[in-house]
Amino acid sequence: MSHKLVGAIDQGTTSTRFVVFDEFGSIVTLHQIQSVQHYPHPGWVEQDPFELLDSAKACMEHAVRKLNALGYSASDIQSIGITNQRETVLVWDKLTGQPIYPAIIWSDGRTVETVQKLASSHEKGKLALQHICGLPLTTYFSAVKLRWLLDNIPEVAEAKEQDRLQFGTLDTWLIYNLTGGVNGGVVVTDVTNASRTMLMDIHTLQWSEEALQFFGIENLVLPKIVSSSEIYGTIHDGALYNIPIAGCLGDQQAALVGQKCFNQGDAKNTYGTGCFMLFNTGNKPVVSQHGLLSTVAYQFGKNSSPSYALEGSVAVAGSSISWLRDNLKLIDSVDQLNELASQVNDTAGVYFVTAFAGLFAPYWREDARGTICGLTQFTTLHHIARATLEAVCYQSRAILDAMNRESNTPLRSLKVDGGISNSDLCMQIQSDILGIHVDRPSMRESTALGSAIAAGLAVGVWKSIEDLEQVNNKGRSTFKPQINTEKREHMYHGWQEAVQRSFGWTS
Ligand code: G3P
Repeated sequence: MSHKLVGAIDQGTTSTRFVVFDEFGSIVTLHQIQSVQHYPHPGWVEQDPFELLDSAKACMEHAVRKLNALGYSASDIQSIGITNQRETVLVWDKLTGQPIYPAIIWSDGRTVETVQKLASSHEKGKLALQHICGLPLTTYFSAVKLRWLLDNIPEVAEAKEQDRLQFGTLDTWLIYNLTGGVNGGVVVTDVTNASRTMLMDIHTLQWSEEALQFFGIENLVLPKIVSSSEIYGTIHDGALYNIPIAGCLGDQQAALVGQKCFNQGDAKNTYGTGCFMLFNTGNKPVVSQHGLLSTVAYQFGKNSSPSYALEGSVAVAGSSISWLRDNLKLIDSVDQLNELASQVNDTAGVYFVTAFAGLFAPYWREDARGTICGLTQFTTLHHIARATLEAVCYQSRAILDAMNRESNTPLRSLKVDGGISNSDLCMQIQSDILGIHVDRPSMRESTALGSAIAAGLAVGVWKSIEDLEQVNNKGRSTFKPQINTEKREHMYHGWQEAVQRSFGWTS
């Protein structure tokens, strides 16, 4: 009997996984490998490009073995989708396929001076390119990191001079290598990943000459921009040889698709290494007045019109828990953090602003640094654990407020997924702080599912979005606010005070 399965490579900041779904969006099997992040200087974050690629290949091989043990064959996989940590920058030599520098990760804050220099060169300062790419100039986005590489790493500048430099985001690196690398690998990026570089005009979905000139990279040959759902190439070798790669989305846009937020006004929040709220704005980009990002949500097929989203990005979510565990050694696991946090009813006035490398949306303050305030002799690790969970909930509240200001209809319910969403306690706190329903699916691999949907749509596993009705439609939990408005606003006021205290640590 033949099956219609779809595979998804989900290359996130802290792990890579390969997930195989059936046509109902249920997981058939998966394999996951943790990845290592390097912090060579304060605020710097790097990863090894080959480690990321090899982890994707190893996940595919292991998952196929598990699939075989379940009685399926690799050829049951009709197509493969890619989803990835966004904005992360890779540079490699076109002639050899070798990386010229480690991957600079999206959360890396080394480019503060590059941002200041670029902003001061334009009358609109940090909003110089907002009308083109929908983004403010910050350390977050790819082109700023690329400019830093050209200015600071002679090997990168030399490769550009000699026309050997290939720049790409993680989707480009993975697809290039999986389709053959120097032996004919395709060099593409999908519209959602391209929309995070600051180099693509989100209205035309083409590289923008004005943006390229702004960053001084007008002579650089960039990856070809493709839609999120079409056949880009086939797997070059290994257990999934010849299977088409047919879907690609940045991980947050993939989660939006995986949560089936296809209607204008639908929104989701994904709690991963960072936390990212995306709100579907329909077929037109909305330029934010309140610190949100305009981004491409998805484009299913090269001739289809794209959908757009407004995004609020929080740089630190799960990574603050890892920090408590790995750097301070205060906890052994996420479960222990939850356990500690659940043993107190509140934080006893403690707030933890997790601004390890500045604060992202809606504040965009590069001078913010991690701040724990409100400590007394009464404070215990329980309160700090709870304040760590609350931090991401408060930042999500600040983003929701900005989204409500941006749109005429306030959001009534928010779909959630990602690691921290497994915590009932945190999702209850989230609902309390937002004052709206928080709606969580039981199958929470939304990111992988989103890219599988894109890949499945391209090869006919599903004919259209309407055909996705039966996909992942079983079992959801809803968290409803359990505190009154007065308490909610009092708690949130404390957060706003704490945020003010986190500012001003770097010039
Ligand atoms: O923009 C960065 C984002 O794509 C990273 O996602 O899942 O690694 O927190 P995640």
